[in-house]
Amino acid sequence: MAATYRTPAGASLTEALVQEIRQDFPLLAQEVNGHPLAYLDSGATSQNPLQVLDAERNFYLGANSAVHRGAHTLAVEATEAFEEARRTLAGFIGAREEEIVWTSNATEAVNLLTYSLGNASQGLGGPQAAPYALGPGDEIVTTEQEHHANIIPWQVLAARTGATLRYIPVTDQGLIDYEAAQNIIGESTRILAFTHVSNVAGSITDVDYLVSLARKVGALTLLDACQSAPHLPLDLAQLDVDFAVLSAHKMLGPTGIGALYGKAQHLDALPPFLTGGSMITKVTMTEAQWMPAPTKFEAGTQRVSQAVAWAEAIRYLDHLGMENVQAWEAQLGQQLAAGIQEIPGARLIGPAPGQERAGLAAFHLEGVHPHDVGQFLDQTGLAVRVGHHCAQPLHRALGITASTRASSYIYNTPAEIDRFLQELAKVRPYFGYSS
Ligand SMILES: Cc1ncc(COP(=O)(O)O)c(C=O)c1O
Repeated sequence: MAATYRTPAGASLTEALVQEIRQDFPLLAQEVNGHPLAYLDSGATSQNPLQVLDAERNFYLGANSAVHRGAHTLAVEATEAFEEARRTLAGFIGAREEEIVWTSNATEAVNLLTYSLGNASQGLGGPQAAPYALGPGDEIVTTEQEHHANIIPWQVLAARTGATLRYIPVTDQGLIDYEAAQNIIGESTRILAFTHVSNVAGSITDVDYLVSLARKVGALTLLDACQSAPHLPLDLAQLDVDFAVLSAHKMLGPTGIGALYGKAQHLDALPPFLTGGSMITKVTMTEAQWMPAPTKFEAGTQRVSQAVAWAEAIRYLDHLGMENVQAWEAQLGQQLAAGIQEIPGARLIGPAPGQERAGLAAFHLEGVHPHDVGQFLDQTGLAVRVGHHCAQPLHRALGITASTRASSYIYNTPAEIDRFLQELAKVRPYFGYSS
């Protein structure tokens, strides 16, 4: 059953249209601590529209079955829905369906790749995987701006293989230092892993530039698209990255599902990470042969209802139009950055107001712990994220241990941002600071 929408397809987002969109998200209509909820934490996890909840429920009501197995009608229907979801995601991000591997989330997607590369380094996968093997003298490069999901798996891979992990530093504003990148990426670089949109700085990475540096030295690239796929048009084929990772729950979809994108030639050559049922063609007592990609990377019973629901979330975003989503959030991001900058004692992280940024802004309020900021705001119904946002190296580089982050999405309004800024301005005075 095709979902119906309250807004016309591809219309520029306006306050009136956003009010319509909010009707699809009943959760947003509630009060928290006696105030209307203003949900400004979509960078951590987004909310689900009714269309997505209905899609998951309808799957369970009418087609639930294990995929790629039984010959019965439900199994065939479930398999079709599952593979249709893969095609939907592929189309949304400029990929081919065989280049999409389902995972539990983006974190598992990075781990899948790093374990697969580690396996290749140990000879698993035979001669076709050998070019992917890493060892002493090889360098893996990431940036100081990354989420821990794009740091720790590389640390473990480096430890497993003897390769060296290097970091492109950030500037005082928390932005990738592109000049330093030039000197760090060199002949020894085998992999360059970086985020598309920073979950703390809100900056949008110059992907073309970093990919061109990697291409010059023949290094593979991984793009962390967790904070970009939900918020701006994404064409991985055009960006020409080798791998990318995404999480459904950050883009109106359910928790429990994410994806690894890999160019077909890499996924064909690399050995699997998890092994077991569903990913083989033949098993004997001593060995097994694997299915072609992406199935060889999808061992065990699959997350079918989540894939179906994620596809519905993608159709929802597609209906709005990602250019419109990006434009609306850019406006909210600028409103946040400009407003935070005005508040005495607030240090904005990331691009200055007026410079390109996504719809989120993190900051440090001098003299007040971010947890106190978060609690203060929560008393007035404002939901923001506090802490290190899984980016300790970035915070350390900025000389702070934690920050407060407000992150917006398609259902947030300029009035909510105003409310947030008004309450934020009261925090330092409440804690006894006069300026
Ligand atoms: C930039 C970035 N990368 C990776 C992740 C990890 O996503 P997940 O926890 O869904 O695996 C997040 C989540 O906060 C993120 O913001």
